[in-house]
Amino acid sequence: MRVTISRLIEMKKQGEKFSMLTAYDYSTARLIDEAGIPVILVGDSLGMVMLGYDSTIPVTIDEMIHHTKAVARGAKNALIVGDMPFMTYHTSVEDALRNAGRFLQEGGAQSVKLEGGVAVTEKVRHIIAAGIPVMGHLGYTPQSTHQLGGPKAVGKSAEAAAQLLRDAKALEEAGVFAIVLELVPAPLARLVTEKVSVPTIGIGAGKDCDGQVQVIHDLLGMFSDFVPKHAKQYARLRDTMKTAVTDYMAEVKAGAFPTAANSPTMDESILDQLK
Ligand code: KIV
Repeated sequence: MRVTISRLIEMKKQGEKFSMLTAYDYSTARLIDEAGIPVILVGDSLGMVMLGYDSTIPVTIDEMIHHTKAVARGAKNALIVGDMPFMTYHTSVEDALRNAGRFLQEGGAQSVKLEGGVAVTEKVRHIIAAGIPVMGHLGYTPQSTHQLGGPKAVGKSAEAAAQLLRDAKALEEAGVFAIVLELVPAPLARLVTEKVSVPTIGIGAGKDCDGQVQVIHDLLGMFSDFVPKHAKQYARLRDTMKTAVTDYMAEVKAGAFPTAANSPTMDESILDQLK
């Protein structure tokens, strides 16, 4: 049975930590789902790790829907969160509603995520009123990278910490079911986690958040452009994949692949008739 929002809130109450992972395609979503990951984020990070953009800003709603559909075909149990890309919820409540709706209606997600605090609560309220669960995202918000001056911790000063807390409370009051905290100092993330009733999900925000989220390419060691400080490589699949590719090339060159076992056979007498 698919993981529900009330289950995640129950987990917070019980002090049961949970994991969220990104996925962008059918096969990965299926694998993650089979492993038991309860929440899958189709993150706009796909712009960088799948599409090779240098930030998440160029990602379009159509690209997001395309990948969300693939993930939804693979994940039968996890709660799927579609990440609303830059400029799809900033222009008006109507645009925000229409674009959020696409993630459920076309993409097959069960919820959406958007970045920002007090500034986006009106949009959040309307999306939730339409029956679409919303996850918030505070701290370092990559869609505002140019305003923030690149990836850096948010909330270190008294003023910034107080603003982050206000944003978290505003999102909670607007009705979000969870809040991602990205690059937030661990003691502040702990305070936010204590102050809000909905689960916090950390990425570079210490161990006291209710859940953790990682980009699957970072976790598996598949992205070589850079390894963020908040990531841990549980595997080095890029090396494994490179070895497999070079082994394949070498075997083709040497005539060692394919073998008879890799091709269909036929009745040789039919060939004799053609000769
Ligand atoms: O797009 C993404 O993958 C994200 C996570 C890093 C939270 O927003």
